[in-house]
Amino acid sequence: MTAPVLFLSTVFKPDIWLSSLKSLSPGLAIQVWPDADVTPEAVRYAVVWRPPHGVLRTFPNLACVFSLGAGVDAIVSDPDYPRHVPLSRMIDPTLTQAMTEYVVLHVLYNHRRQRDFEALQRLRKWRALNAPRAEQVRVGIMGLGVLGTDAAQKLVPLGYQLSGWSMTRKHVPGVRSFCGQPELPAFLAQTDILVCLLPLTPETQGILNRSVLSQLPKGASLINAARGAHMVPEDVLALLDEGLLSGATLDVFPEEPLPPESQFWTHPKVTLTPHAAAATDPRAISRHIVETIAAMERGGAPGNLVDLSKGY
Ligand code: NAP
Ligand code: GLV
Repeated sequence: MTAPVLFLSTVFKPDIWLSSLKSLSPGLAIQVWPDADVTPEAVRYAVVWRPPHGVLRTFPNLACVFSLGAGVDAIVSDPDYPRHVPLSRMIDPTLTQAMTEYVVLHVLYNHRRQRDFEALQRLRKWRALNAPRAEQVRVGIMGLGVLGTDAAQKLVPLGYQLSGWSMTRKHVPGVRSFCGQPELPAFLAQTDILVCLLPLTPETQGILNRSVLSQLPKGASLINAARGAHMVPEDVLALLDEGLLSGATLDVFPEEPLPPESQFWTHPKVTLTPHAAAATDPRAISRHIVETIAAMERGGAPGNLVDLSKGY
């Protein structure tokens, strides 16, 4: 296969992705942006992660753009994205499983007060803390898409009361469905552990703010594994200090890497990870890219498509 592919990322070094693509399709012709010898007219496929805005429009014969991640906010927010070009994103069981592990781990961590136990351990204090039974804990997942649905389905057998909030009504066994802005207050009022797995769009940017989070029951906890820009950092910090939130697990931040001076690093009620909840497996995404290119070269259509009108 000789289809000209361009690797374009401002964050990832190309080596691991290129060797993975080449191992599955040795004949694939891959170039790396911004190498000088890239001929814009020759590029048919772009494999991207956080591409600089304005660059994708410079390839007049693009047939498909592949996102190396599940979230496509950094691509669709490009005002110059060539909107006739399909955008295919990462949807794969390896990534879904990784996110579900993260969510289950941190739902249990917050529910079973592990952060408090670790603080007691540092003080060498032998003290049992009470936690409610799982059946008494209400977990609400914002974003009941590929990742939110799987996480919810894996939490149901643990006994938690599950609900999800999405744009449209969902029918997931054991998971109460709330949808749209009108049902957001009711969803929040019955959520003890809030998990954010929303895509970042103009509608969801800053949704984890004081006005929204104040509608949770006092002492609720927050898990954000979606995007840092969903959160208004000063609101989350203030709500933790005021006790309205009892704890937060945060994987993503408005500025990444998180600056050393950020209060999140040392806040006693915060557990953080460096955008590591669910990384894309290079082999899994390479398989998708190689198979899709082969299908498209035979006249087929790409899968895992983003709805550009919705932005996710
Ligand atoms: P998805 O399948 O597109 O699901 C998105 C869900 O959000 C859908 O249920 C959608 O509702 C809902 N939604 C979108 N806009 C909404 C709004 N304004 N109000 C209410 N609900 C809304 O996305 P996914 O694959 O599950 O991924 C979710 C996000 O996780 C990604 O966009 C990415 O940012 C993040 N992520 C993070 C990591 C990490 O390592 N931290 C890894 C992978 C992904 P409908 O179904 O009704 O349309
Ligand atoms: C990671 O953040 C992703 O969107 O896949």
